[in-house]
Amino acid sequence: MNFKSLLAVATALITVNAKKIFIDNDGLASLEALFAISAGYEIVGVSSSFGSSSLVDSAGAASDVLKTYNLTSCIPNYLGAQQPLLRTNETFHAWENLFGDLVWQGAFDASYADSHSWDNVTYDDSKAGALALIEAVKSNKDSDPVTIFAAGMMTTVAQAISIYPNLVKEAAGLYIMGGYFDNQYAQATGNSITIDINTDINLIQDPEAAQIVLTSDWKELVIGGNFTNYLVPSQELYDKIIDKAGSIDLIRSHPYFSQVSNLLATGNYTENNDQQKLPFWDAAILFALVNPDTIKETTDVTVAVDTSFYSPYYGSLKLYSHEWAPKSGYKVANATIVDKIDDEQFYNTVLDVFFKNWTQYCEVHGPVALEI
Ligand SMILES: *[C@@H]1O[C@H](CO)[C@@H](O)[C@H](O)[C@H]1NC(C)=O
Ligand SMILES: *[C@@H]1O[C@H](CO)[C@@H](O)[C@H](O)[C@H]1NC(C)=O
Ligand SMILES: *[C@@H]1O[C@H](CO)[C@@H](O)[C@H](O)[C@H]1NC(C)=O
Ligand SMILES: *[C@@H]1O[C@H](CO)[C@@H](O)[C@H](O)[C@H]1NC(C)=O
Ligand SMILES: *[C@@H]1O[C@H](CO)[C@@H](O)[C@H](O)[C@H]1NC(C)=O
Ligand SMILES: *[C@@H]1O[C@H](CO)[C@@H](O)[C@H](O)[C@H]1NC(C)=O
Ligand SMILES: *[C@@H]1O[C@H](CO)[C@@H](O)[C@H](O)[C@H]1NC(C)=O
Repeated sequence: MNFKSLLAVATALITVNAKKIFIDNDGLASLEALFAISAGYEIVGVSSSFGSSSLVDSAGAASDVLKTYNLTSCIPNYLGAQQPLLRTNETFHAWENLFGDLVWQGAFDASYADSHSWDNVTYDDSKAGALALIEAVKSNKDSDPVTIFAAGMMTTVAQAISIYPNLVKEAAGLYIMGGYFDNQYAQATGNSITIDINTDINLIQDPEAAQIVLTSDWKELVIGGNFTNYLVPSQELYDKIIDKAGSIDLIRSHPYFSQVSNLLATGNYTENNDQQKLPFWDAAILFALVNPDTIKETTDVTVAVDTSFYSPYYGSLKLYSHEWAPKSGYKVANATIVDKIDDEQFYNTVLDVFFKNWTQYCEVHGPVALEI
């Protein structure tokens, strides 16, 4: 056996044994992809859905990440849900008129403007995201059950469950971003960014899908709690990244660092705006999924989503202790809330993954030397 075929065998083994993840999001962040592959997970598919971003921006965000790191040939980017199950732009705004405006309205915002155009977006149109998710779960169920990571609306996963109810049993579990529960005081007293980060539009934008998905009988249901709000960019983090690169000019000018450049923006924390300083959110809970040893505190609860339109809590997550949860009637499910992870390991991994060369990943299933 020559070296090349040895390498092929080794690569095949890695692929077969790799833990598998399918990501549905409304704007994939570079760290989500890099955290997963650097922890040895195989991303069996990404689906890009409407939600905080329009469909073209959501697909565009994933396309930009996959192109920057040359992952397009082995990580397909499908189109997921293009709209909520029941909610429409009109009912969303009608509900806001009754119960108050949300700070963040995502792609339903009256002033939302697309920042991508379809000509620049690479995606796989051979099948819809929900079907790709079903196929990925089915084909790996006996070897490496796929963990589903859903960080936008739950609509794509709800569609998949409706077509193929066994999805729930055949997947390893569901991890979601979201559920800023019990933060009414912060919402009542904070400034707009505080109100924003204590409200969860992911479930609010499609409450029915969220209730269907969260109360399906998953082997494991894990929800990223408030810790995702406390992992944030800072001048200290920017400085470490800039130091490691040698200069901010290099980050700004080298296309390989375009995603890092998006994160640093001006490179001066004081000068960056609220949007540029947003918490790591989705990447934070995905980090916990692929690095379970870093989870420090969790809470077991029972959850359900409010699906009453005529309610100020329509689309909000309701939490119960197991003992006092509804016994019948309203459908509920057990969930694990992640409250705290090892912050230092998180930030160290951010530094680590940005300075590896992932451009050969599709061939060698790992990083190669960075040559900048
Ligand atoms: C959604 O509704 C708002 C408020 O009525 C409107 O300004 C906006 O144009 C609508 N957006 C879409 C995509 O239809
Ligand atoms: C699309 O790509 C073209 C050519 O690379 C570029 O000129 C244009 O600015 C891009 N448009 C968007 C919306 O990204
Ligand atoms: C997150 O919520 C948990 C449970 O309410 C609480 O114990 C913890 O202090 C909160 N974390 C932060 C960083 O506020
Ligand atoms: C960042 O911007 C602030 C305000 O413009 C300025 O006072 C500070 O010197 C800048 N810091 C760096 C490191 O450039
Ligand atoms: C939820 O967890 C409680 C406590 O561990 C357990 O008694 C109950 O059977 C669980 N419910 C479901 C639906 O798994
Ligand atoms: C991108 O990945 C493909 C497939 O693995 C590989 O053939 C190609 O050489 C890579 N391109 C660059 C620019 O690294
Ligand atoms: C990554 O590695 C490839 C193959 O060795 C090389 O051609 C490319 O320049 C490297 N890219 C970066 C950003 O280091």
